[in-house]
Amino acid sequence: MQSFNTFLGQSFRNFLTVGAISPSSKYLAKRMVKNVKGPVILELGPGTGVFTKEILRVLPPNGILISIESNETFVNYINNHIKDKRLKLYTGNAFLLKDFLAKNGIGKVNYVISGLPIGNLNKKDKQKLLNEISESLEEDGVYIQFEYFLAGMKAVKKVFPKISLDFELLNLPPAFVMRCKKIKK
Ligand SMILES: C[S@@+](CC[C@H](N)C(=O)[O-])C[C@H]1O[C@@H](n2cnc3c(N)ncnc32)[C@H](O)[C@@H]1O
Repeated sequence: MQSFNTFLGQSFRNFLTVGAISPSSKYLAKRMVKNVKGPVILELGPGTGVFTKEILRVLPPNGILISIESNETFVNYINNHIKDKRLKLYTGNAFLLKDFLAKNGIGKVNYVISGLPIGNLNKKDKQKLLNEISESLEEDGVYIQFEYFLAGMKAVKKVFPKISLDFELLNLPPAFVMRCKKIKK
C-alpha cells in the first residue's frame, strides 16, 4: 500500500516521466524476468522496485544489478525497502546509461530491463535511448520492455528487428512485454 501511495503521489506530480498511476503488478514483474538469468543486468526506471525485487530473485549470488531511476523519491523508497549487496542503485537519467555502466567498470550487460515509459518520449530521445541500449548489450543480450499500447514498438523494431511479444492480463492496465534480441553484426 505504501508503494502504491508513493507511486500515485509521484504520478500526479510528474505524469509524463512516471507514465503510470500505480506500480506494476507482481505478475507483470514475473513475466518481465521470465528466462532472465544475468549475471549482469541493467534496469531502467525501477520506480518503487517491483521489477527490482523479481530481478534480484533470479539473479545469481555473484550477479550484479545496476538500476537507474530519475525520481529521488523512488530512489529513497527503494533504498529503504530493498537491501541487497548485488544492487547498485543510482539517481540519474537513463539516457546516460553508458556512463553509469562505465562507473561500475562494466562494458556490456546481458539484459536491459526497462520500466521507462518509452511511448511518452519524443522520436529523437527514443532513438538515442534505443541505440544506447543496443550498444550496451552483449552480442546475445536481450532488452525487455513493457508497454500498455505498444506506442513505442515501431521505433524499437528499427533497432531490434527480432521482437517476441508477450502479454500480462493481471496488471492495471494489462500490459505487453517486448523481448528484443540484439542482432548479431
Ligand atoms: C511506468 S514507471 C515504471 C516503474 C516500475 N518499473 C514499475 O513497473 O512499477 C516509469 C519509471 O521510469 C522512471 N523514469 C522516467 N524517465 C526516466 C529517465 N530518463 N531516467 C531514469 N528513470 C526514468 C520514472 O520515474 C518511473 O519510476
